[in-house]
Amino acid sequence: MQQEQHSSLPQADAASVAHSQRVAQFIGRKIAAAGGKISFAEYMHHALYAPGLGYYCAGTTKFGEAGDYITAPETSSVFGHVLARQCASVLAEVESPSILEFGAGSGKLAADILTMLAEMDAIPDSYKILEVSAELRERQEAFLASAIPELVDRVSWLDRLPEQLSGVIVANEVLDALPVERFVRRDHGVMQLCVAVKDGSFVSAERDAPDTLATAIAAIEEQLGRQLPDGYVSEVCTAAPQWIGDLGRVLRHGAAFLFDYGVSRREYYAPERSGGWLRCHFRHHAHADPFILPGIQDITAWVDFSAAAAAAVARGLDVAGFVTQAQFLIGGGLDQVLADFAELPIDAQLKLSGQVKLLTLPGQMGENFKCLGLTRGRITRPAAFGLADRTTSL
Ligand SMILES: C[S@@+](CC[C@H](N)C(=O)[O-])C[C@H]1O[C@@H](n2cnc3c(N)ncnc32)[C@H](O)[C@@H]1O
Repeated sequence: MQQEQHSSLPQADAASVAHSQRVAQFIGRKIAAAGGKISFAEYMHHALYAPGLGYYCAGTTKFGEAGDYITAPETSSVFGHVLARQCASVLAEVESPSILEFGAGSGKLAADILTMLAEMDAIPDSYKILEVSAELRERQEAFLASAIPELVDRVSWLDRLPEQLSGVIVANEVLDALPVERFVRRDHGVMQLCVAVKDGSFVSAERDAPDTLATAIAAIEEQLGRQLPDGYVSEVCTAAPQWIGDLGRVLRHGAAFLFDYGVSRREYYAPERSGGWLRCHFRHHAHADPFILPGIQDITAWVDFSAAAAAAVARGLDVAGFVTQAQFLIGGGLDQVLADFAELPIDAQLKLSGQVKLLTLPGQMGENFKCLGLTRGRITRPAAFGLADRTTSL
């Protein structure tokens, strides 16, 4: 397989190129075994999660300045500290409370939440992490052992979902990392966009959509009240309803905070958004070509939050709110968290102010990132949803 690289992207080092070559060959064999095409969702799954090979399952840096992209917890502890305050109010209302974090990345969010909860004297009975990547799990274990040695005994890693949980579920940028189907609407029906190999490179190909995909698009069009136009290309995350459904099955009493970049269904499938919401990240450069650098670049898709909310409601959860990240942080006690830092030297305060801008400004992470809040049972609505709730837009 040839490894092309866009001239606008930073050059990958030789070891990364060699790794990507192995990932490409692995996916190439899967395509050959499937008769010449695999769905885009399968391609994305292998590129991100193939054991020992995929982006999340091999040793690249990924998060932070030395990696490919920066997430809110990596940007500043302020994010985790505000979220912890919201968790504390929920934890206080349930018996034997726990926190369950999906996809904990480097472990930074877990460290920040537990540190703040310890300060508030509101530590839960346990902090569980469910992480699909064995490599990241090892990294989280090492990081938490050194970052919060006095609290790490509260943390445990799960291999599968618990039977039930009372307390809080947290997931930051997990929904966008679930593999998505890509499709093109034709007047005569829905076609599934697949991945094939041509002249040694990955290329897009089409085939009739399988029933699951055709049904998902039919449901979207029914809700929109119109058929998508001929030639319209987009994504649908058929895995998300199952993931949210599992979360809903597990949560007995408490709340879930799901953060991600995303929009309502109406915006997701707006006529002018043909082309979809796929984004790839390599060394802090965002682009739209998922076929280059497999295994060493992140592939993500924005989230259809209407679909997420509908899946939650179908599982008996209540929507507590849907707000931008900026509104979540401001409504959730950003001012109190910042007051804790008031004694810092001036250079540290300036640095912090830059981080807060990154988290909250509309042109940065403040507006595109949202939080969907879900609850089950009697739970006081978390204060973070008190400002400019957009649930009705879903
Ligand atoms: C974009 S990273 C976000 C990491 C971290 N939450 C942060 O904000 O820095 C996505 C994370 O989700 C994990 N992940 C993907 N699918 C998952 C699933 N179904 N269950 C649990 N974790 C998952 C990945 O391995 C990775 O740790």
